[in-house]
Amino acid sequence: MCGIVAYVGYREAFPLILKGLKRLEYRGYDSSGVALLEGDKLNIYKKKGKVSDLESELAGKHLTATIGIGHTRWATHGEPNDVNAHPHYSNNRRLSIIHNGIIENYASIKQNLVKKGHVFLSDTDTEVLVHFIEDIQNETGDTLESAVKLALKEVFGAYAIVVMSADHPGQLIAARKGSPLVIGVGGDEFFFASDATPIVEYTKDVVYLDDYEVAVVKDGKLNIQNLDNTETIPYIQKLEMELETIEKGGYDHFMIKEIFEQPRSIADSMRGRLNAADAHLQLGGLNGYLDKLAAAERIVIVGCGTSWHAGLVAEYLFEELARINVEVEYASEFRYRNPVIRKNDIVIAISQSGETADTLAAIELAKSKGATIFGVCNVVGSSIARATHAGAYTHAGPEIGVASTKAFTAQVTVLTLIAIATAKRKGTINEEMYRQLLAELENVPQKVNEVFENASRIKEIAFIFTYARNFIYLGRGLNFPVALEGALKLKEISYIHAEGYPAAEMKHGPIALIDEDMPVVFLATKDSSYEKIVSNIQEVKARKGRVIAIVTEGDTLIPGMVDFVIEVPKVHEILTPLLSVIPLQLLSYYIAVMRGRNVDQPRNLAKSVTVE
Ligand code: F6R
Repeated sequence: MCGIVAYVGYREAFPLILKGLKRLEYRGYDSSGVALLEGDKLNIYKKKGKVSDLESELAGKHLTATIGIGHTRWATHGEPNDVNAHPHYSNNRRLSIIHNGIIENYASIKQNLVKKGHVFLSDTDTEVLVHFIEDIQNETGDTLESAVKLALKEVFGAYAIVVMSADHPGQLIAARKGSPLVIGVGGDEFFFASDATPIVEYTKDVVYLDDYEVAVVKDGKLNIQNLDNTETIPYIQKLEMELETIEKGGYDHFMIKEIFEQPRSIADSMRGRLNAADAHLQLGGLNGYLDKLAAAERIVIVGCGTSWHAGLVAEYLFEELARINVEVEYASEFRYRNPVIRKNDIVIAISQSGETADTLAAIELAKSKGATIFGVCNVVGSSIARATHAGAYTHAGPEIGVASTKAFTAQVTVLTLIAIATAKRKGTINEEMYRQLLAELENVPQKVNEVFENASRIKEIAFIFTYARNFIYLGRGLNFPVALEGALKLKEISYIHAEGYPAAEMKHGPIALIDEDMPVVFLATKDSSYEKIVSNIQEVKARKGRVIAIVTEGDTLIPGMVDFVIEVPKVHEILTPLLSVIPLQLLSYYIAVMRGRNVDQPRNLAKSVTVE
């Protein structure tokens, strides 16, 4: 969702901010803008559409300011247009602001300000906030910093903001509550951004701002205080991110780069944690929590979208290996119920971005009920990673394509490690099984590479089905969440309607849809439900459905029954999703490309969903 980039230092701010906004494009947005302090004037330039539209509009302009703020907006209050785009001015045009999040009580504040003569140009909640700050400054005569704090004490909702003033050259004020904000600390320069991707090129020293903190850069110094003026010493962390991980590196899209990165990202998720030869499995983040997990009467898993699908895979893993009752919940539903949390329950929150508003709220709710929360996140230092009691990072590296691919397999890998470690501690798997699983896990990256050998076959199938209007994905057991994930991948990037179902459920309704125009993707690997899946395939073929089957290498039965097969290597049943999902990612990608879709930034979607 919305993206923030701001800079103060000795470089020209505009090109730097523009580049940063492009790095944040993956988050999803519909307009962009910058404010630059040129001489003693704040000049705002903004435009509906892509950052490149803003760039074209400003081409040839001599913009030499060394301080500025920039934004990509994902519309919430007011349609996407030039006026509603950020930054916004205050009433006297001496202040400007960029904002991520939602100010929930903006309407009542606006009413008061209108009575005082403030004139608003946009429909946004953000413009209200910057007018409010100016009003407080006028009323109290306080410093800008105090006015920002007083305003933030009055607002409800979520925000990450950066404020720039024409009266304070060299000063930027930033604050956060519920929306991420990272500060890059360079030699004589400072960077502010929604995540580290716009910053990593210039410095690896960063400070993650906490909720209710206000950061002020003034006279080349960074000062952080909370809303009650208590100062905190900035904790500077080193970014581990490398620049090449956020660039396409010769691929047409981030999504295909990230699909092909999976042998490495899965290996990275296990690195330093697993060594099959020594029967070694240890996750640093589990230290002190493994006994709690092993003693848990119930595990509640919360997440959204693809992360929720990874949770469904984990349900099978924990039940099968560790014999623990698991419930998997959409975070958005969980947070608005009054869920029963018992003393020995563990909540596992799964999130790639670590910023998903619903997942964060579910964590806070579970925490308030006394649960122990374990996080499985990809983005280091993210809000969810910091809100949980303990956790394990997935180490998939930055995922830029909006459709989640390598994050899913990394989540499943880490959850598999946790389930095996818990089962070992609990004594619910024997030594032989333990060693076998570790050895098989270590071989998964190589097997994913083998799946890629089928890429051109998958492309041919994609070509045949490019203009299909619907798809059904069916799987059983561990392949059921994979069917859901395959359907989600297809719909989000190709805009083809797709449904995932447990294969046995087909008879209870969806079978009515089957005819010669309905492509049905079966997850039909050789596992404990193989015979059942074979029967389900027959039921679809009897109604002339066109079947694409994902089968285990060497299968001789299914290829004779279906229209198309894609083979995956044989693997222990428990690890099946790590392989069976790969052809589905590729199929979606190729179909979307053939339909001419914007694969990395599909319409209406945001990479991290920071509003509920
Ligand atoms: C699908 C996708 C989304 C996310 C969901 C949760 O490809 O990317 O469904 O999985 O928005 O996001 P995180 O994992 O960042 O909490």
